[in-house]
Amino acid sequence: MSGPAAAGGSAAGSGPDPRVPVVTIDGPSGSGKGTVSRLLVRHLGWHLLDSGALYRLVAHAGTLAGLAPDDEPGHARLALQMHVLFDPDATGEERIWLADRDVTAALREEAAGAGASRVAVWPAVRSALLARQHAAARPPGLIADGRDMGTVVFPQAQLKIFLTASPEERAQRRYKQLKEKDSSVSLAALSREIAERDRRDATRPVAPLVPASDAIVLDSTALDAAAVTERVLAHGRARGLWGVVA
Ligand code: C5P
Repeated sequence: MSGPAAAGGSAAGSGPDPRVPVVTIDGPSGSGKGTVSRLLVRHLGWHLLDSGALYRLVAHAGTLAGLAPDDEPGHARLALQMHVLFDPDATGEERIWLADRDVTAALREEAAGAGASRVAVWPAVRSALLARQHAAARPPGLIADGRDMGTVVFPQAQLKIFLTASPEERAQRRYKQLKEKDSSVSLAALSREIAERDRRDATRPVAPLVPASDAIVLDSTALDAAAVTERVLAHGRARGLWGVVA
């Protein structure tokens, strides 16, 4: 997600453009949805919505603004007003800007994920982010990565995937990702944090992490990202979503 769609934020959304095809990739942390979504985007030349980054941004913006951790209206205001830009740097690596601050590294930390899961239980924050997410649906198509993409944000999506993997495998994957940047990460602590985040995401009353009734559930425990991507492409092909080119 980049450009005007990412920078804006308005309360009065009229829903996503119904002419734009949308593929939703939902699932818990470490299920591989971020990697698979990026491979699909590269393959298809579609846009990406990394909705988890938006929740991470709201939590981070709240901390920077000195908001109390339980200030729901304050965080909802930030969700509406924050100025965000998703913009690759000269090497093509993704960078995320909050106003004029590069917050890419801060958002990757597990603390940012935990903060996101805390603000994500609030209905006011979720609805404040809706118009921004809908605006990401632009031609030629959107890959939407998150927890409630197929159930709440894009219920009309042409293809809905729900990715799972065993808790052990998911913790290992996150550990590998984080270890590259921070050598103090502990697998045991990370497993506990992920389990707590999953529990909160799956049991919250608003937009809990559940597969849409029409989602295809894929278990990625024994598959690498390329193999999962191939399966998603095959499902899209079977539905005539991208013809024979992909
Ligand atoms: O996907 P990621 O790990 O970046 O998401 C961080 C947190 O944001 C999740 O644990 C979840 O609580 C929240 N989230 C959400 N709905 C989404 C995406 C993320 O509630 N669509």
